[in-house]
Amino acid sequence: MKLSEGWVPVALSSSIEAGTSAGAVVEGSEIVVWRDNSGKAHVWEDRCPHRGMRMSFGFVRGDHIACLYHGWQYDTAGQCRYIPAHPTLDVPQTIKVPTYLSQERYGIIWSTTEAESVLPEAGIDGEITPVRSLYVDREVSAVLAAFESAGMVKLSDEVGTLASGGDVLLLAFQSVSSEKTAVHIVIAGSPAVYGGAKQKHYAQWAEGLRYALEQDAAMVEVA
Ligand code: FES
Repeated sequence: MKLSEGWVPVALSSSIEAGTSAGAVVEGSEIVVWRDNSGKAHVWEDRCPHRGMRMSFGFVRGDHIACLYHGWQYDTAGQCRYIPAHPTLDVPQTIKVPTYLSQERYGIIWSTTEAESVLPEAGIDGEITPVRSLYVDREVSAVLAAFESAGMVKLSDEVGTLASGGDVLLLAFQSVSSEKTAVHIVIAGSPAVYGGAKQKHYAQWAEGLRYALEQDAAMVEVA
């Protein structure tokens, strides 16, 4: 699904710490996911309006992000506020990075361009333990089908849940391209309970799933 079609999971919340940024791709569109020092996550087009450098290579400083190439600084609305080569310049309002809506739920950062769209409901509340983001060299429909065959209940094209013993996993699917999919995996429950051994167990299981998917082998049981 594209950002223009609804909320897309773009990263695990835990993978974007305050003061850091990372690049991601949704259906071929490059985005930067970054978190300011107050803890708020932002999702923008990953391209500086000056000479096109990736904003994900930039530096987060407080509530703005500075481009790596010539240091132009952008505020949280994407507006350029400072150009080091012209420190007294009143920067024109037209110099702006396209920004997208973002919100965090289920321990995942979501983004869209559509204010009216509704985040998929997974029926999970409370604390979340992150497992990992899994990048699979297969199209999203094949990845969804494979996780369903492993026991996942598909709630939408972006979200499914999988019960394993007393544990509940939430899986969120991001179509990177026609040949690549990211699966963001979390456990419903507190890190105090599910951190450590459980995290490692499900991360290893996810590795096995990826191998099976890419090799077209039989799916790996979750237990
Ligand atoms: S390319 Fe970003 S400041 Fe020049």
